[in-house]
Amino acid sequence: NSVTVQAPGTVANLVCGFDVLGLCLDAPYDTMVIRLLDEKKVIIESADGYPLPTDPALNTAGAPLVEMLKEIEENIGFEVIIHKAIKPGSGIGSSAASAAGAVVGANVLLNNRFTKEDLVRFALFGEKVASGVKHADNIAPGIYGGITLIRSIFPLDIVAIPAPELFVTVVHPQIEVKTSDARQILRKEVLLKDAIKQWGNIAGLVAGFMKNDYDLIGRSLEDVIIEPVRSILIPGFADVKQRSVAAGALGGGISGSGPSIFMLSKDEETAHAVEAIMHDVYNGVGLDHHVYVTKVN
Ligand code: HSE
Repeated sequence: NSVTVQAPGTVANLVCGFDVLGLCLDAPYDTMVIRLLDEKKVIIESADGYPLPTDPALNTAGAPLVEMLKEIEENIGFEVIIHKAIKPGSGIGSSAASAAGAVVGANVLLNNRFTKEDLVRFALFGEKVASGVKHADNIAPGIYGGITLIRSIFPLDIVAIPAPELFVTVVHPQIEVKTSDARQILRKEVLLKDAIKQWGNIAGLVAGFMKNDYDLIGRSLEDVIIEPVRSILIPGFADVKQRSVAAGALGGGISGSGPSIFMLSKDEETAHAVEAIMHDVYNGVGLDHHVYVTKVN
């Protein structure tokens, strides 16, 4: 009585949509095996010796399952064996993949008794463990797939956004940026003129996705509030962005809270040209890095 889940990486924020937009990647993904137990408990194990907190309340996969069990009458529990492929602190939704994969897998074992929205509600407890804040812009796309708008968290209101085919090139420079730190450094207040630009871009981006308008998508991938603060933590950021756009990418920016950078392209050839640029920039900076060429899934 077990199920194997591929829990994909996700890109949160999509540049202008801090905490409200996210997309699901085709790769990389964690592999998780979830097994039904006949007592009310949650067991967490690492498949490859990767150090994970094994106290379920402190684990990003465990905390959501503990919450789920509170809404289940039967005397059951779950064992989760996690094979991590998405590095924590990479900015491509490592904690969210564990949280989303755990609840999706558990729900399959329960004959899908919970809705996707319920699953997001449970998985948010994993993000709380990981970063101290409940944000759904990684777990919602991880659970729904594609591109999602989180219009509201309290109460939950998630909108799946249809979009044209999009290739994603992601570079993960090997520095660690903790989401909690990357949130701490943000200004708490925003100028009205910046807010106007930002919500124009968010609306433009969503309209661009829904109208299959690649130019509008490209024009809207601009962040005047978060990126100027966070990009300082990421060497090579401006170079990657400028050179990728010059090579034909639609645009891009910091993936989640960084340090990964993602660029969107409308065809695979451009996505690979961006890959070459990313290697070139980080070889120049002298930073170990990993590049993924993948798609929105
Ligand atoms: N929206 C969150 C942030 C995502 O940018 O802090 C973290 O992956």
